[in-house]
Amino acid sequence: MKPLLFTLHAADSLASDMLAGGLFDEGNVERRRFPDGESYVRLETGVEDRAVVFLCSLDRPDERVMTLLLAAEAAQAQGAQQVGLIAPYLAYMRQDKAFRPGEAVSAPVFAEILSRRFDWLVTLEPHLHRITSLDEIFTIPARAAEATQPIAEWIAAHVERPFLVGPDSESAPWIERIAARLDAPFAVLEKERLGDHEVRIGGTLGGLRPGMTPVVVDDIVSSGGTLATIVERIAQEADRAAVCIAVHALYGELPAPLASSASLQALASSDSVPHASNRIGIANPLLAEAEQLITLNLKRHRL
Ligand code: R5P
Repeated sequence: MKPLLFTLHAADSLASDMLAGGLFDEGNVERRRFPDGESYVRLETGVEDRAVVFLCSLDRPDERVMTLLLAAEAAQAQGAQQVGLIAPYLAYMRQDKAFRPGEAVSAPVFAEILSRRFDWLVTLEPHLHRITSLDEIFTIPARAAEATQPIAEWIAAHVERPFLVGPDSESAPWIERIAARLDAPFAVLEKERLGDHEVRIGGTLGGLRPGMTPVVVDDIVSSGGTLATIVERIAQEADRAAVCIAVHALYGELPAPLASSASLQALASSDSVPHASNRIGIANPLLAEAEQLITLNLKRHRL
């Protein structure tokens, strides 16, 4: 029997691409809130002796995590052979250190909670900075799928003569990988965060030549402050409108100055988080990692 995929929260495009891959049967789950706001979960599809995988992007995590944990517990209690989690966006990774005395450090706490309930985890381009590998904080097999191939394919199909721009040093490794796939030039800027919505951008756009289209690629777009600042900087320095790409679109509406900016030519996000700007499908890299982990867990079970 195929593994079961229960979708708890995902873009419609991603949920259907995951099932279209042929790896999974679809599982059905009933969810609702009690009148007091608490979560109710019931797995309608039988899971005994089956590999069970939950697809749940973790944007707005505080609204989703309890349902996810209850669903995982229900699957374990009903005899699932393994319970995996595909969380295209993995929340709480950015607070990876106490910047001020007394601050909670969310990344290891959240990883510990998920490690207790799941046998494995697959995510996409997690925000890893001072923590450099998921293995440092997860005690279960945890894999980071890459969005570089689908992003490069989208750029190749939609942008002429791209010049890639990374906002900060953390973006350098994957900007380099996307650039290599496209054989395109790139620059990596320097970002200093001044507040939740405000950043200062340094560094140079050396290499941006006439006729090239600047393409800013960031892993997370939240307030939109980083993109807005970079797009304005490119417009001032190079008199060019930029294309922007976000892997994880955590913004609701774009901030007004960016949304109405003549300096923003287009904004495309991956479908890791449901959003009107979703253009780039990322099911394939998630499926590839999940298939390997399901197989490893099936083998371990048989030993
Ligand atoms: C931070 O280091 C990330 O890579 C993003 O650049 C950041 O989260 C973007 O946030 P915002 O849209 O609020 O500027």
